[in-house]
Amino acid sequence: MSTADLPALNAQFAIPGHVSFREGPGGLVVAMVGNSLATATIALQGAHVMTWAPRKQRPVIWLSKFAKFAPGKSIRGGVPVCWPWFGAHATEAKFPGHGFARTVQWEVVSTEALRDGATRLTFRIVQDEATRAQWPQASEALNVVTVGKALEIALVTRNTGSAPFTLGDAFHTYFEVSDIRDCRIHGLGSCPYLDKVDGGKKKQQVGPVAIGEEVDRIYLDSVADVLIDDPGYQRRIRVSKRGSRSSVVWNPWIEKAAKMGDFGPDGYLNMVCVESTNAADDVVQIPAGGEHRLWVRYSIEPLD
Ligand code: BG6
Repeated sequence: MSTADLPALNAQFAIPGHVSFREGPGGLVVAMVGNSLATATIALQGAHVMTWAPRKQRPVIWLSKFAKFAPGKSIRGGVPVCWPWFGAHATEAKFPGHGFARTVQWEVVSTEALRDGATRLTFRIVQDEATRAQWPQASEALNVVTVGKALEIALVTRNTGSAPFTLGDAFHTYFEVSDIRDCRIHGLGSCPYLDKVDGGKKKQQVGPVAIGEEVDRIYLDSVADVLIDDPGYQRRIRVSKRGSRSSVVWNPWIEKAAKMGDFGPDGYLNMVCVESTNAADDVVQIPAGGEHRLWVRYSIEPLD
């Protein structure tokens, strides 16, 4: 999907008062969503939600001020879609971390104005020779994004072939916080986790998660809502999910953020990734003709 497709895209899928398509930064094609409930921007590259803010609220999703926007480059911030594997590929070290879905084009399948005022956009991944070289499995992936008072996203993977396959996936979501040092993350208190900062050692979470250094953890047996309590913004971000039994909590902190080059000097203080995943052993077997649905709902509540 290039900017040359914009007239056709708008003719087919724009809905006044809901969504139109424009050229965004770096020449990326972007869906601009604005309805009575919220605003959002979604890049067709990666079907990547870059921003979302309910009306009269500050942004809930963090987008790095230093993000790079370019064809084939993952955007730092927003809601990257990790698919069809999470983290490093199981056997091929040269395949991209977190899969290829976040850096390839997705096409628009439909746009819809919902009765409650929300806007729903459905995207389908475009698979070609390059993606099939890394993922020959016969499959289809849809990303269904509903922009309203809450942000709901469903990543639907269908096995369109005649053999089962194993899938890893995630919404690698960056949430905006006032100052991560003051925040507490609830809902993971009884979960074991793999500590990627400590050689992948298995540990046990006790109480809420507090972040004051680099944190990179895969929480196992995580099915409950995860809550990010942010006293600075006097709000709680609620992460509800289905089709996922693991969650990743990640903040690169100072040194790692500096090495990445697209975080900026203080970016790490204003973000935390709480990722709803099928990661580590929590991968999914999809039988021939079957499908898997990873679903999340993000909402905010006042913090009392
Ligand atoms: C997290 C991983 O999910 O993503 C981290 O647990 C990784 O190890 C981070 O650094 C960011 O990955 P990327 O590929 O977007 O830089």
